Amino acid sequence: MATHNLGRSVFGDPQHADNLMPIEEAHALLNEWVPNEKLRLHMKQVAANMKAWAIEKENADEQTALKWELAGLLHDADWEKYPDDHCRIIIEELERRNIDPDVIHCIASHGPGYFGVEPNNTMDKMIYAIDELSGFVHAAALIRPTLYEGLEVKSVLKRLKSPAFAAQVSREDIADATARAGVSLEELIQFIIDHQKHVT
Ligand SMILES: [Fe+2]
Repeated sequence: MATHNLGRSVFGDPQHADNLMPIEEAHALLNEWVPNEKLRLHMKQVAANMKAWAIEKENADEQTALKWELAGLLHDADWEKYPDDHCRIIIEELERRNIDPDVIHCIASHGPGYFGVEPNNTMDKMIYAIDELSGFVHAAALIRPTLYEGLEVKSVLKRLKSPAFAAQVSREDIADATARAGVSLEELIQFIIDHQKHVT
């Protein structure tokens, strides 16, 4: 992916804090903007992991969990149609819809090396870490006859050490993201296996 420095670090309007959209509306946006089913699945997987992490690890209430889920679901919404303006277009759309700044900042910080926006809080750090690893875990599942069934953390770790496997996934970003989040690779891989295996 090319670098798409957003050239800004403030997103949305604090007046719209806690203004979210129903998850059904986010799915409708996704279906309209992202014809590619595989890409939609990636975003649904990231959303499922984000929501589950918020609830299980951060004791989030329903509203907070929805924030995490929305950020996960929409983080790549503009990638397919606007590859050269990835992230900027979805950010502007969410600002137009007066969506909570936390959700928009989270999306903006999902790739600090690409968008030039630093992950500030736990939600930001986790989308960066989950995004990198979710696709990798999925790739590791897809090459197995039984897919997620019986997929073990150690086999994902082994694949990570093999540079030719899913070569487009940056091992450096994975190391950077998990270090920033303060989460071990083993814990996050297991969490992702457990929470995205049923997503369709
Ligand atoms: Fe992504």
